Amino acid sequence: MNDVKHLVISKIKDGTVIDHITPGLAILVLKILGIKPKSSEAVSMAMNVESAKMGKKDIVKVEGKYIGDQELNKIALIAPEATINLIQNYEIIRKFNVKPPEVVENIIKCPNPNCISNSNEPIKSRFRIFLDESRVKAVCDYCGRKLINLEDYI
Ligand code: CTP
Ligand code: ZN
Repeated sequence: MNDVKHLVISKIKDGTVIDHITPGLAILVLKILGIKPKSSEAVSMAMNVESAKMGKKDIVKVEGKYIGDQELNKIALIAPEATINLIQNYEIIRKFNVKPPEVVENIIKCPNPNCISNSNEPIKSRFRIFLDESRVKAVCDYCGRKLINLEDYI
């Protein structure tokens, strides 16, 4: 809600705004973006704020950073409704929705200790992604293990 009374977080000059994040998951988005204690980027975030579209949402704004494909794929797995806004000189130069990929490699570690992807073989982890009741789920391509709360495995 951005009107005279409510401005959730200030606009940024250059960088990325990740809007409509599943409420409560902004902290995980910061982790995906590699923002850690002692990071130097100017970052603002809001958790569980009002959203006309979603009821509640989280927002993350990172000044001076344009996010890459691997990071976008990870965000799509945990927050499939997220919108990405790329900002240059205060203007939105691109706006798009994240899209969960069909297959992800080397993003999710299989929790099955007997899975061949956890052996000493040089194998990349590989999961097939699907939507089930608008939740993103994943199945290990090697052992068939099904994961439902992807935020626990990112
Ligand atoms: N934003 C920002 N800095 C800018 C421009 C925009 O932080 N210089 C943020 C806005 O605060 C908002 C998001 O980027 O969180 C998208 O901006 P805008 O498209 O203007 O807002 P809406 O129309 O509400 O977006 P949507 O249609 O995606 O809900
Ligand atoms: Zn497996």
